[in-house]
Amino acid sequence: MASAKLELEKEVSMPVVGVIGAGQLARMMQPAAIALGIGIKVFGEAEGSSAHQAVTKVGDYNDFDQLVEFAKTVDVITFDHEHVPTAVLERLEAEGFSVRPGPNALKHAQNKLTMRRKLTELGLPQPIWKAAKTEAAVAGFLAEFGPKIVVKTPIGGYDGKGVRVISTTAEVRDWLEGISAFGGELLLEQKVEFIGELAQLSARRPSGEFRAWPLVATFQEAGVCSEVIAPAPASSRHAEAERIAQSIAEGLGVTGVMAVELFELESGEILVNELAMRPHNSGHFSIDASITSQFEQHLRAVLDLPLGDTSSTSSHAVMINLLGVDSENDFLRHYPTAMAKYPQVKFHLYEKAPRQGRKMGHLTLQGQDLAELLAAGRACRELLYNR
Ligand SMILES: Nc1ncnc2c1ncn2[C@@H]1O[C@H](COP(=O)(O)OP(=O)(O)O)[C@@H](O)[C@H]1O
Ligand SMILES: [Mg+2]
Repeated sequence: MASAKLELEKEVSMPVVGVIGAGQLARMMQPAAIALGIGIKVFGEAEGSSAHQAVTKVGDYNDFDQLVEFAKTVDVITFDHEHVPTAVLERLEAEGFSVRPGPNALKHAQNKLTMRRKLTELGLPQPIWKAAKTEAAVAGFLAEFGPKIVVKTPIGGYDGKGVRVISTTAEVRDWLEGISAFGGELLLEQKVEFIGELAQLSARRPSGEFRAWPLVATFQEAGVCSEVIAPAPASSRHAEAERIAQSIAEGLGVTGVMAVELFELESGEILVNELAMRPHNSGHFSIDASITSQFEQHLRAVLDLPLGDTSSTSSHAVMINLLGVDSENDFLRHYPTAMAKYPQVKFHLYEKAPRQGRKMGHLTLQGQDLAELLAAGRACRELLYNR
């Protein structure tokens, strides 16, 4: 009897997902893994990370040997961030480890020029763009598409770091001088006069199943996402956004969750801004306001398990980021007061040291009356922001 039971346990033992990076995205995968009954192990860079409760190894993700040691303890490798060098991931794959999304897909989210070239090849709508290596090339693009253009570092940027709106070449001279750090080229883009920013979240698993959440509206302050409204209230481009996301997911062979950031123009046209191949800030609403959260879906997708229903559980959801106000306020002082005053709010704190502008947590509200949800969520945030 005892040995038969052991056999059965072996057969039904659930797989373990390994996450490289221990930020808030890895942190929010943990409760989803617990609910599904699958294992999760996180490779962190330092002690005291946001995902510390799931960290099993602290090390350097650029070091192949350390990654192999970690990979041997899990069934599939996935990511909390996009910084692991493609070459390292290719080596892991070559040694037989399962990496999802794979380096061939992920490289498009790691390098904005690689992405622009691929989207051009796929014929998908995007801003007018050009690669530039010299001040003369920047000047030429400014003359054609100015008075203002957008310049981006193709690699390493996030939360608006690595994006500048310029009207003279002098404003990117430092980037041109240090251009080798960005892969030898800068990305130039027309400055899009959008009426709004949108994000299309979706998931695809290796056997091909694809599911998308409702299109959402995102709001950025100084290049950092501050609020998300789901579904996007004004846009009529839901079907088109989903088609674009599916073309990208299939065209690039993406596995796992992918976010496509979009610009919406006055004409109604939508253009692709950038891609993320992992759970994304624009999808945090799904934890509390969708049948399947992006974190649960990501785990299902990278394990090639059937995907869950992405329908919303209310007519509207609002996600409000808690961005650090200074290096003191960890938002705990007024936590009990905010909870008492706003029982309808779902609170999420990431256990990160406070720093101005840093993503420290978020709030989610769902219900029937969008204006009411926004007002309550913003008032709750203001209360937490008080010293
Ligand atoms: N071509 C553009 N025209 C106008 N605004 C832009 C353009 N590209 C980026 N932005 C603005 O800058 C923000 C950050 O740019 P993005 O490329 O998404 O960088 P990050 O990787 O930091 O998110 C966008 O959300 C948008 O508000
Ligand atoms: Mg962005």
